Amino acid sequence: MSRPGLFITFEGIDGAGKSSHIEGLAAAFRTQGRTVTVSREPGGTPLAEKLRTLVLNDPMDALTESLLIFAARRDHLLNVIEPALARGEVVLCDRFTDATFAYQGAGRGFDLGVLSTLERLAQTGLAQDPLLMREPDLTVWFDLAPEVAAERLAGARVPDRFEAQPVEFFRRVAQGYADRAAAAPQRFARLDAAQDRHRVWQQLTSVFVRKGWLAIMVASQGGMQ
Ligand code: TMP
Repeated sequence: MSRPGLFITFEGIDGAGKSSHIEGLAAAFRTQGRTVTVSREPGGTPLAEKLRTLVLNDPMDALTESLLIFAARRDHLLNVIEPALARGEVVLCDRFTDATFAYQGAGRGFDLGVLSTLERLAQTGLAQDPLLMREPDLTVWFDLAPEVAAERLAGARVPDRFEAQPVEFFRRVAQGYADRAAAAPQRFARLDAAQDRHRVWQQLTSVFVRKGWLAIMVASQGGMQ
């Protein structure tokens, strides 16, 4: 029996700890016989990874940045996300369009209306229904105070253009995520990312158990990691 694909995205400010849980979740889905594609944005295809390097390192204005991010996103959707969903796979993507609204929109102050236009352009005409705009089935939001995230990141690695921003930037980004979550509460699951790793994992798996996407057995095994 074929199962429908699932498109799940993970969001939060830099340092919120989302990336470390994505592989655990992939393993939990695989244990249940699902095929999982793990990817990230900007990135996920050879072209999109090149655009990622530019966006994270080269100075540019907010419109150029947004255009490159959406170009990378369309390439990623066309070549990785849509084919995987059509095969009935679970796609776990580290960041997606909510990050653009949070970072370029709220963080950099770029026009939200232009971002909505780019979103519609980049995310339609992909699947069989030409009018369908691809959006995640679920977005897991790792919510963490910017001050705590900054402490976690301090000295961890050489910061990219975004990680190097002051804490005020991340306050705006965090507010951007809160606004996106308030506008689409049925799509968002908020996790308290200030808790320790094990508790965050428990919160995460309980979201998937409640949705019927993971069995309780797997959730508790994952919690032992
Ligand atoms: P990562 O370090 O979580 O992989 O994300 C790369 C950086 O890119 C991160 O600082 C957030 C930023 N970013 C944007 O500014 N806009 C976007 O649309 C995406 C996907 C990421």
